[in-house]
Amino acid sequence: MTAQLEIRHVSKVFGGVQAVNRVTFDVNQGELVSVIGPNGAGKTTVLNMISGFHHPDLGSIVFEGTDITGRAPSRIATLGVGRTFQNIALFRGMTVLDNLMLGRHVHMKTGVLAGMLYAGRTRREEVEHRRVVEDVIDFLEIEPLRKRVVGALPFGLQKRVELGRALAAHPKILLLDEPMGGMNVEEKEDMARFVLDVNDEWGTTVVLVEHDMGVVMDISQRVVVMDLGETIAEGTPVDVKANPLVIKAYLGGKTGAKTWAGRRGTGDRIDASTARRA
Ligand SMILES: Nc1ncnc2c1ncn2[C@@H]1O[C@H](COP(=O)(O)OP(=O)(O)OP(=O)(O)O)[C@@H](O)[C@H]1O
Ligand SMILES: [Mg+2]
Repeated sequence: MTAQLEIRHVSKVFGGVQAVNRVTFDVNQGELVSVIGPNGAGKTTVLNMISGFHHPDLGSIVFEGTDITGRAPSRIATLGVGRTFQNIALFRGMTVLDNLMLGRHVHMKTGVLAGMLYAGRTRREEVEHRRVVEDVIDFLEIEPLRKRVVGALPFGLQKRVELGRALAAHPKILLLDEPMGGMNVEEKEDMARFVLDVNDEWGTTVVLVEHDMGVVMDISQRVVVMDLGETIAEGTPVDVKANPLVIKAYLGGKTGAKTWAGRRGTGDRIDASTARRA
């Protein structure tokens, strides 16, 4: 079986910084794969290359048999690649509903001019887009927020709306860049449940970048570990947690496995943002 997403030896240099260095991994249809690593490891850059926001200097990315290396983000999105951003990317002055409707744009065939000429077709399309968006609103339990302006919502709910914007496009694969970043424990639990449900119930493949090790180890089927632009480990959560290279990357090799295991009782929360580069 060939993988849904094949990332082959991709590299990216910014100025003098080797952000990503010959990274290779596969993601299979329906999988929930996490990409973890300390700050600056290159995780966001990998997501940016998959979704076309950055073009790899070297290597290739194949999605469902189509070489998407270096294609424009809009074309990649149209193929079924959805994403959320580390820094929320919503129209803050618009309502939740309108932001979610914008998430449908990859499927909108009719532009404004055509809409005036072929009003019937536009209306049918509009009804269908509305139906999809209302399903997403139900699924994410944000019904009471439909008419609220996004910028006025608490941070955790803005993150949920951003997931909604991505889901509205009905992606085949969803790239999530720190969907739980900055959230409190309760908000993280909600978000983890939504991510799991999207994966389970909708069958959407998920690539998750997340610093909360408790969540990552709980919900991932497979984990890819990056450090300094390279993949240093890949495997099940159990394997990865026991891998000395991973422990070294997170803890700087000073404290070792004992510290990692010792944190289990506190929910496995090793926050990579403070782990090494501090
Ligand atoms: N647009 C850019 N211009 C210059 N350097 C960049 C750019 N984007 C990323 N970098 C650099 O590339 C490296 C990898 O960054 P990246 O954002 O991919 O890391 P990350 O693993 O997502 O980190 P974090 O966990 O902090 O989000 C870093 O050294 C970063 O400073
Ligand atoms: Mg990042």
